[in-house]
This record gives sequence, C-alpha cells and structure tokens, in this order.
Amino acid sequence: MRTILNKTAAILLLSLTALSAKEVTIYSYRHYEADKKLYKQFTAETGIKVNTVKAKADALITRIKEEADKCPADLFIAADVGRLVKAQEEGILQPATSELLQKQVPKALRDSNNFWTGFTVRARIIAYAKDRVKKGEINSYQDLMLPKWKGRVIARSSSNIYNQSLLSAYIANHGEKKAFLWARAVKNNMAREPEGSDRDQMRAVAAGIADACIVNTYYVGLLTNSKNEKDRQVAEKLAICFPNQAENQTGTHINISGGAVCKHAPNKANAIKLLEFLTSSKAQSTFSETTSEYPLIRENATSKLLKSWGPFKADPIPLDTIGKHRKAAAKTFLKAGWK
Ligand SMILES: [Fe+2]
Repeated sequence: MRTILNKTAAILLLSLTALSAKEVTIYSYRHYEADKKLYKQFTAETGIKVNTVKAKADALITRIKEEADKCPADLFIAADVGRLVKAQEEGILQPATSELLQKQVPKALRDSNNFWTGFTVRARIIAYAKDRVKKGEINSYQDLMLPKWKGRVIARSSSNIYNQSLLSAYIANHGEKKAFLWARAVKNNMAREPEGSDRDQMRAVAAGIADACIVNTYYVGLLTNSKNEKDRQVAEKLAICFPNQAENQTGTHINISGGAVCKHAPNKANAIKLLEFLTSSKAQSTFSETTSEYPLIRENATSKLLKSWGPFKADPIPLDTIGKHRKAAAKTFLKAGWK
C-alpha cells in the first residue's frame, strides 16, 4: 500500500514539475502592444505561459550576466542586431535553432552560428518635409553631405544603436575613413545638436526646425496610424525616401528586431517554440499590421501602409558583419563630433 502511495506521489510530483515547466521567460527591450497580443495567442495555442521582464537592452545584458546560471531568462529580445551581437560577445547566449526556424527566417536575417534570429525588419530611411523638399531631391545617405543641406538635417544621438548600426554598415561597405567623412559632413549640416527620439526628429521637421531627418520606417508608421491627432498631422507633412536605390549603390540599410536563447535558459525548447511562433506567417502579419514593421519576407507585408511604400532594394550586407563594427562606429561618430 505504502509503495503504491509513494508511486502516486512521485507521479504527481513529476506532473507538477512538467506543469511548472510550461512557461517561457523573456527579457525584452521591446515595448509594443503587438508583442503582448502575440504572447497571449502563443499561450492560448501552446499552453506555455509567457513571463516578460522589460528594460533597456544593455541593462538586460548586464542582468543576465550577473544572474549567471540562476538567470530565469530563456529568451533575450532586442530591437537591433548590434545588441544581439553584443549579447553574443558577452557570452550570455547559446546556439539554438530548428528546422522550422531555418525555413521561416531568411539566412541573411539570422546568425550564421544560430546565436540569434530576426523576427521583424526595419529600414533606416530619410524622411523630409513635403512642402520644402521636392521628390527626388534626396536619393542617398551621401546626399545629406552636400552643402545644399547646410542647417537643414537632423538626427538623434550617435549613442543610439540604430545610428551605430547604420554607420557600421557604412564602415563595412566603404571603410572607416569614408564613414568618418560621411558622419562629419552630416554633422556639419545639422540644424541642431542631436537630441530626442526618431519620432522627435520627424516632429521637428514638421515644425520647420529642419527639412530632413534619418529615422526607422516603423516610426513613420506609428505616427501615421497614431491615435493622437497631432502625430498624424506630423506624418501628413512628411514624405519618405528609401536611400541608395541606384544600381551602383548599396541599397537601404535594414536591421532587425530579434531573439536569442540565453545560455542558461531553463526552458530552451519553449524558447525555440516561441521564436517559431513569432516568425510564423500569422505573427508576421500581426507585426506588419500593428507596429508597421516589415515581415522577414518583405513581399509578404499585409499592411496597407507598407504596401503603399512599395518595394525597395536593401543593403545585402550580412547582419552579423554590421554587429561587429559597432564599436568602431561609435568611435567614428565621436571623432566626427556627432554626439
Ligand atoms: Fe525603436
């Protein structure tokens, strides 16, 4: 009798452990309603509970390092490949992939050693004032160096990872010297010292402080589809240009939001399942509809706005190469006086 009872207790304990493992913990820099909605859907479909801790990417990297093998995080999520590569270099990730991930994520948008994978795409473009800049007047990042843009350009700080990745790509394509000359010339054309967010750059252009700015595509979408009328009015005043589309040019710089399985992930299998879910066509469509981010396969974008922008040529440089130049990019910016 006692043996049967012991066996029953053991089975009960086992199933409780299995139940408690029906979860996945994310340390995320992203802060979108779309993500919450998708995590809920994931839980409904799989029974796996999603726990989220949100903070700045660098703070999360430090925390994962400090928590070491006690770290509850299964997935680290960042909004730029630069941070994913940094996390990889800090030794807090492990390679993880699956057949489905390999199928759903184009090779160029995931790490060649499977340390991270993208789940959305964004382009770093130029937005300009419709009433002061003619269509076709700006066609490339290099155009922003021209004397005619003196006092007419703005961008956020060079400490921002989106700018660092843009300059990293520039370094990878043209070398450090040319990247420095570009950063210095654009800095010298600025209407003010770098400040504020991408959205703030567009607000300033709409307000007439400058005529052109460098921003990520989804911020244009977030202003265009904002509940706030003032934001929608800002978007109304702007047009966008996908830089460097000519045949002899590199294409527009693109980047990813992506996820990576943490080195000590207690629920690695669930983390992979969540990545599979986020890269599935259903989730990809949710991202494109709600945050105006591009899906991994851009031609599959369902959002009306993204479709209205049309197709564009993206810089084909591998994302891990961009990640590796980020320290040089940060240094180059400072040398150029772009704070
Ligand atoms: Fe962002």
